[in-house]
Amino acid sequence: MANLLATKPLSMLKHEASEEGEHTLKRSLGPINLITLGIGAIVGAGIFVLTGHAAAANAGPALALSFVLAGITCAFAGLCYAEFASIIPIAGSAYTYGYATLGEFVAWIIGWDLVLEYAFGAATVASGWSGYLLSLVGQLGYTPSPAIARFCYNYGASVYLTHNRWQLAGSFLPGSDLSSLPHVTGAFNLIAFLIIALVTTILVVGIKESANLNSLIVIVKLLIVGVFLVLGINYLIHHPSIAHANWHPFIPPNEGPGRYGVSGIAAGAASVFFAYIGFDAVSTAAQEAKNPRRDMPIGILGSLVFCTLLYIVVSLVLTGMVNYRTLNVAEPVAVGIDATGVAWGGILVKVGAVFGLFTVMLVMLLGQSRVFFSMSKDGLLPKWASAVHPRFRTPWISSIVVGGVVAFLPAMLDVDRLSQLVNMGTLLAFSIVSAGVWILRVRQPDLVRPFKTPLVPLVPICGIISAFYLMFQLPALTWEVVGVWLVVGLVIYFGYSVKHSNVQKLPQGETTGR
Ligand code: ALA
Repeated sequence: MANLLATKPLSMLKHEASEEGEHTLKRSLGPINLITLGIGAIVGAGIFVLTGHAAAANAGPALALSFVLAGITCAFAGLCYAEFASIIPIAGSAYTYGYATLGEFVAWIIGWDLVLEYAFGAATVASGWSGYLLSLVGQLGYTPSPAIARFCYNYGASVYLTHNRWQLAGSFLPGSDLSSLPHVTGAFNLIAFLIIALVTTILVVGIKESANLNSLIVIVKLLIVGVFLVLGINYLIHHPSIAHANWHPFIPPNEGPGRYGVSGIAAGAASVFFAYIGFDAVSTAAQEAKNPRRDMPIGILGSLVFCTLLYIVVSLVLTGMVNYRTLNVAEPVAVGIDATGVAWGGILVKVGAVFGLFTVMLVMLLGQSRVFFSMSKDGLLPKWASAVHPRFRTPWISSIVVGGVVAFLPAMLDVDRLSQLVNMGTLLAFSIVSAGVWILRVRQPDLVRPFKTPLVPLVPICGIISAFYLMFQLPALTWEVVGVWLVVGLVIYFGYSVKHSNVQKLPQGETTGR
């Protein structure tokens, strides 16, 4: 009979962390690489795409408060991730932490759940990326024919042609008459498919190359957000009456559950939470960090604090520049900059988004293949998932399999549905990690912790409560899909993993987790 509560001994984890040689991952990342890896993963579709819908449909100008709420939730979880990452600097993130503290069964659930975060996350961003690319080529004068347009949007997406641009049905103001406009329904998002294929190829070729490329693109991305802020703030200073009109009322009166008012701020937070996802992906690169004990907390918390401040400022500027009701579009930040009348601004923002979202996909797919790598090393997944390429030193088979599956997701689900699944999966992982920190403090109080989460158990408890609060803001259908996903995971666990687990083969006394 398998012991579902068997924990992976910390001594075993530490041994794995110190392994070196041809079949191990290459330690090449310093603190700056890790912070840029974090920012590369964080700033993406959340701020460039989902902000628009959250402002238009949920929070209005109070979107900045949604960002504060989601940021607080992430801060609690970030502090817990930082403690774990400093104790257990191993690829695998929350999965590994769960294995060391809460037992194999919970670890499996987290690992399976992280697929929702990383793989579905990459698919969400790929969809957003295709939206910005289409908008960019549209601005440069190209309009796809209806036959081609069908292969540029996610399956089932409804798009209409207006002013030589294809626009998603949801981006028209309520009450617009669309009946006379040419219309197509998305069949397969070939653009998203191809970009995932490209990112996968880069990941197979090597982590150092990926990290350098990431750093370069992060600089470009931040410069462009900086240009947006300079143009936007300048516009607001010169048009105070427009800013005043757009920001008042700051919290629009409630129009139903999740539509403006306080419930709108909460619903907006559950949606823009996506914008913060990624700081935890830093921890999946622990085995590739040169000095993980010191640098993991720096990478996780540094990137989180930076992005929180950035988002609050960007959302305030954006909702001051244009009326929030006009922001439900595929490229809201570009729409904001168009209001300034600076012709090159929109093009620049779109170019920035095209590059910026690229790094998010890179880090998310990196995280996913590393989680599978760890699970396979533990015997919970077949051996091929941890095969390291002798020359590139990357988990190439798992990268290719993950990329292959992710490339097809935008063909099946729309962006909103994908992002809700990602948010739910990530929030669940956050709550389990928070609980894990608390449990490990009780079980192993004397363990050396290079970074300590402050105020335990208060911070972990707040982490769990705030994560569940946001989860309850998500639609019931998301809960149901995640439920089905977890059931599939259980079938694999009991059908395969439990029989092949390395930890299950250890003598009982070693796996009690005490
Ligand atoms: N935080 C990442 C994004 O917004 C996932 O794209």
